[in-house]
Amino acid sequence: MKAYLFTALVGALFILSPATQAKRPIPATNAEQLAYFLGNEGAYKDYMLQCAGCHRFDGKGAENRGIPSFVDSIGLFTRLPEGRSYMIRVPGAAQSQINNDELALVLNWIVANYSPEEYQSGHYRPFTAAEVGASRGHRLADVAAERARLEQIMQEKGWQPANYLYGRAGR
Ligand code: HEC
Repeated sequence: MKAYLFTALVGALFILSPATQAKRPIPATNAEQLAYFLGNEGAYKDYMLQCAGCHRFDGKGAENRGIPSFVDSIGLFTRLPEGRSYMIRVPGAAQSQINNDELALVLNWIVANYSPEEYQSGHYRPFTAAEVGASRGHRLADVAAERARLEQIMQEKGWQPANYLYGRAGR
């Protein structure tokens, strides 16, 4: 009887979640993904409400206040496993009010808008709720040190991420 009730309950929950059922799966190719994320209204709204206060509507941030620009830069981080984890764990992202699914979408939206060349490479791997969930709870002990470490790895590969001046330039 208990097992039956459980099954019925799970079934009911499944039927009662039209949002999950109606959600369009992420398309397979980078070209389709770019259009999918650029057109994602939920991600746009979440970015404007949760992130744009600091990162600005144009993704340029405020270099002199220690908020690095996303423009032609943030895509570089997605190429490195530790860069992806850093993007999820920075306090502005990890501690935001949105859930893992929404944060994954916003990160993909940020890359689509401000580093679209990453999708043109054909090698972009979109963030998923599972990837966000796996990293999000691991607090970065020293954000600036991790950013500097990643910057060095990228520079050795000849990639140039945006300036991050926190703790530098007389701040
Ligand atoms: C209160 C200001 C603030 C808000 C709001 C904020 N951020 Fe940030 N963000 C920062 C700062 C400052 C940095 C630089 C790293 C640090 O010191 O945390 C940063 C860095 C980042 C980075 C890494 C960029 C790089 O080049 O190192 C990502 C990705 C990011 N934020 C995503 C987000 C997302 C997604 C949101 C919204 C859900 C968000 N942030 C909201 C202030 C903010």
